[in-house]
Amino acid sequence: MNGPAFVRLDAPAKINLRLRVLERMQSGYHALESVFAALALADTVEVSRSARPGVELRVEGGVDTGPPERNLVYRAAVAFHEAVGAEPAVCLGLTKRIPSAAGLGGGSSDAAATLRALNLLNGRPLGEAALLMLGARLGSDVPFFLLPTPYALGWGRGERLLSLPTLPARPALVAHPGVPMPTGAAFARLAELRGAAPPDAWALPLAEMVDWTGVARHAANDFERPAFETIPSLAPAVTAMREAGAELALLAGSGASIFGVFMDEDARDAAGASLARTGLALWKTETLGAWPEPVAG
Ligand code: C5P
Repeated sequence: MNGPAFVRLDAPAKINLRLRVLERMQSGYHALESVFAALALADTVEVSRSARPGVELRVEGGVDTGPPERNLVYRAAVAFHEAVGAEPAVCLGLTKRIPSAAGLGGGSSDAAATLRALNLLNGRPLGEAALLMLGARLGSDVPFFLLPTPYALGWGRGERLLSLPTLPARPALVAHPGVPMPTGAAFARLAELRGAAPPDAWALPLAEMVDWTGVARHAANDFERPAFETIPSLAPAVTAMREAGAELALLAGSGASIFGVFMDEDARDAAGASLARTGLALWKTETLGAWPEPVAG
């Protein structure tokens, strides 16, 4: 068998620097317009060969990820082996650090890291396009994590992507209220709030998304209305991040976490201090300039 005995890969969280919810498509899903970036805050996926047939999954880290067979990591491993026409005999280890159902794409990133790691473990049988298509079948946010760079524009369900040169890494702060904001409920409440009014047309100014000043100018998240209404601690925390000097501070994905991006660590740490007594869980991290490198042995 070609390839190493194990591959370990960090699976970063994502944030949406902009997330617009557009019209409902025939599929029932809404079209999105999104700007994705990744954070150093990451889970870790490890894949290794096993003497036993099948897919074995161990999860560590105390984040509830549900039954193993329903985990996206497990499903990614099954899908990978189907795609390459091989019977699986593999152990998967998942160390969770990214909170679940938080709008940070943790499950999607874990699935993408599993596909990348299994591809390396098996001597790269799949090319980039095949991995992207496998990822898109697993979930709308998965393909972003398979792109060449951790900064991209996205449309459709989030699977139509344009990978861009990354912005310089910046300190970031993530805060989570400890309660989930389910995606379906966020879309449903947004539709109620909007009523019959169509979403306003507000085209993404591509040419301005090449530096943090431009990104900050167009930072927005349509899910803030439903999320801030459902979880009252969020809006004041976003305001506190801005007052502490955040370049931009927004809800992450459809919630329930929020994040701020800062020019320097002092501003990020000042925001952390001002949020310390809010009861929100905090993570000091930074945006990524490149995807983590795999470790193989
Ligand atoms: O992607 P996921 O299946 O978790 O989404 C849950 C629900 O959110 C969907 O059933 C759909 O009602 C809504 N949704 C949507 N448009 C999207 C993504 C999700 O309307 N792009």
